[in-house]
Amino acid sequence: MEIFRDPSSVPKFGTETVGFVPTMGALHAGHLSLVEAAKKRCDRVILSIFVNPTQFGPNEDLARYPRPFERDCDLAKQAGVDAIFAPKPETIYPNTPTLVQVPEVTEQYEGALRPGHFEGVATIVLKLFNIIQPDVAFFGEKDLQQCAVIRKMTHDLNVPVHLEFCETLREQNGLAMSSRNAYL
Ligand code: PAF
Repeated sequence: MEIFRDPSSVPKFGTETVGFVPTMGALHAGHLSLVEAAKKRCDRVILSIFVNPTQFGPNEDLARYPRPFERDCDLAKQAGVDAIFAPKPETIYPNTPTLVQVPEVTEQYEGALRPGHFEGVATIVLKLFNIIQPDVAFFGEKDLQQCAVIRKMTHDLNVPVHLEFCETLREQNGLAMSSRNAYL
């Protein structure tokens, strides 16, 4: 399994189809189910690990967000990921980045409570799509509003990627699996 940190070194898989699973790391069974779906549908799977600063508010958990990178790489390798894209924030963002605004679908629910959050999500997802150029990208339905934002962004900006939204995985007690469950 290849690990690459620079957008210019994206592996080239020729005519093979590429499935893409974007994550912020701290991988759990929910992420691995996205990898499994990607492996079923595509010839190759690229997973990204990037704790995206632009989607965190000033008083949120950017600094303490879990970053178990070695463990994530082991899990990804065992799951059959072909390559991991793990860039540094300074490689991804200039000092004053262009940000993508997605109207309407961001106005309620989490969008109303976390100003700027979905702008950060739409921006990084578009950047990752441009860098990786996947055929299919896989997201968990757990983040339902995020799915709606990404659907609208790719549609409105004519991004040539097929989106798959996959079922939420839950703990035995019904709690949706999430990297932030580590805080509980
Ligand atoms: O759902 C997530 O983990 C993140 O919001 C995503 C899609 C990887 C963008 O940083």
